[in-house]
Amino acid sequence: MAIFLKKNTGYFQGFHATEIYLPVSLITDAVRNFSRVLRNKKDVYEQRAILPVMPWKSIIHRKPICFQESRKNDGGVRFSELGVLCRFARHLSPRSQIFEIGTFDGRTTFNLALNAPGCRVATLDLPAKNKTLFATEPGERHFIEKEGSGQIFLKNAQRFPDAVERITKLYGDSAQFDFTPYEGKCDLVFVDGSHAHEYVINDTKTAFRLIKNTGTIIWHDYGVWPGVTRALEEIEGKKKLGLKNIQGTSLVVWKASGRDAITFP
Ligand SMILES: C[S@@+](CC[C@H](N)C(=O)[O-])C[C@H]1O[C@@H](n2cnc3c(N)ncnc32)[C@H](O)[C@@H]1O
Repeated sequence: MAIFLKKNTGYFQGFHATEIYLPVSLITDAVRNFSRVLRNKKDVYEQRAILPVMPWKSIIHRKPICFQESRKNDGGVRFSELGVLCRFARHLSPRSQIFEIGTFDGRTTFNLALNAPGCRVATLDLPAKNKTLFATEPGERHFIEKEGSGQIFLKNAQRFPDAVERITKLYGDSAQFDFTPYEGKCDLVFVDGSHAHEYVINDTKTAFRLIKNTGTIIWHDYGVWPGVTRALEEIEGKKKLGLKNIQGTSLVVWKASGRDAITFP
């Protein structure tokens, strides 16, 4: 029984994230908002978000996913968001390339690698003392000025060698890094670096240079960080790309049609 539980806990957590935790959080959010309306109270962090909302199930199918190291540190994606991201990774064919901008502790990187067998995951992080081309947000200094990055996959290298060996750790400022080896080669790009407006615009341009014409781009923190929200809405307003906010999450997704060459920027 203990061995059975040990083997299957990760799968249960993966199931729990998108099939239980996410729908329950939708209900609790609705109750909380309703209660605020009744009490005439405003959420000080609330932002008006205008991108169309879609349930994740309308975008991606439900292959089982498995979590390790699912506990969130401040700065990481929510449990349900990790589930949605891993579902996208789970549908990639072997030898696909994933690119993450913003490694942080490497929890998402590690779970993407675990759920995308045979795929490579490149992850870029800003070294703590690095100068940046654009200004970052004062509120994100503690995500940047940390001791190290990627410690979650680094400490799992012996336990999960197959997944960790497929991760490439890269360092630099996303506005100055040389992305040439990855251009037009990525099947999934996750944009989760600086939350400053100028960075989100620039990282989005980079994501479109990296992605294949069958790929998917996902952004984090829409409706959470004003710089992210404004940047994505401006881009959608100008380019009409068809960006969608995944229901109950701060994730925004764009899927290439598979037909046309990528033209943005
Ligand atoms: C919110 S955390 C990323 C969380 C991570 N993707 C996850 O899911 O656990 C943002 C990360 O982006 C990095 N970052 C901030 N500005 C950056 C830049 N200009 N270039 C590259 N990385 C940057 C920070 O150092 C931090 O590690």
